[in-house]
Amino acid sequence: MSLNTISVIGAGQMGIGIAQVCAQAGYNVVLNDVSDEALTRAMSGLDERLTRLVERERLSREDKEGIEARIDPSRDYAQLGAADLVIEAASENEAVKSGIFKTLAPHLGSHTILASNTSSLSITRLAARTDRPERFMGVHFMNPVPVMQLVELIRGIATDQATFETCRELVERLGKIATVSEDFPGFIVNRILIPMINEAAYVLYEGVGSVESIDRSMRLGANHPMGPLELADFIGLDTCVAIMQVLHEGLADTKYRPCPLLVKYVEAGWFGRKVGRGFYDYRGDVPVPTR
Ligand code: CAA
Repeated sequence: MSLNTISVIGAGQMGIGIAQVCAQAGYNVVLNDVSDEALTRAMSGLDERLTRLVERERLSREDKEGIEARIDPSRDYAQLGAADLVIEAASENEAVKSGIFKTLAPHLGSHTILASNTSSLSITRLAARTDRPERFMGVHFMNPVPVMQLVELIRGIATDQATFETCRELVERLGKIATVSEDFPGFIVNRILIPMINEAAYVLYEGVGSVESIDRSMRLGANHPMGPLELADFIGLDTCVAIMQVLHEGLADTKYRPCPLLVKYVEAGWFGRKVGRGFYDYRGDVPVPTR
């Protein structure tokens, strides 16, 4: 099936990144959020990033304008549902995601494929609550979407081959590389990455190292581009805890218990970069470790 219009639900850091790469590849994109403010913030953030690329001569002014013109911020569900593919990129909360698919259902075209950018939830379970489990896929982008090469593709138990092939072709057209994961909690990347972040939080919690020494150790000792706590702030500590909970419940193994210190940061509302504070405090000129 050929795709022309793609709807993206959720204008957070993942949603706007997905909208950008789709528009860059020539698709018309409808970007939706429940909050007008989130839509405005997402579009102005995109404009700033693209302006920097133009200034550094990495993108032409015409291409920048083309990308922005192809993204239509809209709160109209009828317009969203008319797309060939809807990619849901709302918060990592099963009730929120299922609620969105339910609200969207009456507006969907019969051919429309539904995809979720969930980073850990069961695709089979999300799909089963829709009217089209055979046209439902997990399409999991990495953050920051415009930079990261990988997209994980996850079939639910009922996903048909045509839906899978359409999503695989989309990933190729976006210039990204797909891996295929079976539908188990956290898929491949987060099954490995988030327990590592959780372990870094334990290392901090137990006083083995400070925020700075943990991050420096993994940057210089394991050649990671970001230390695990810096990366946790980047992903969002709320998302990290949500994924740990899915691993803990879904795999029923105590090795996945969320670190109490990580949970405490989330309870404090210190979600990381997006709110200005997490393992680091970003409110000044340079990030300052909180421990
Ligand atoms: N959005 C778009 N582009 C961004 C960006 C952002 N938020 N942040 C950085 N970039 C771009 C920059 O514009 C720059 O582009 P050019 O090379 O075209 O100029 C490029 O990325 C490199 O940026 P910088 O030189 O400023 O910074 P850097 O070299 O330190 O790289 C980084 C930044 C790419 C984010 C790098 O630190 C990195 O790879 N970090 C690890 C990221 C990672 O692990 N992501 C996966 C998270 S897990 C996930 O996403 C799954 C999940 O479900 C939780």
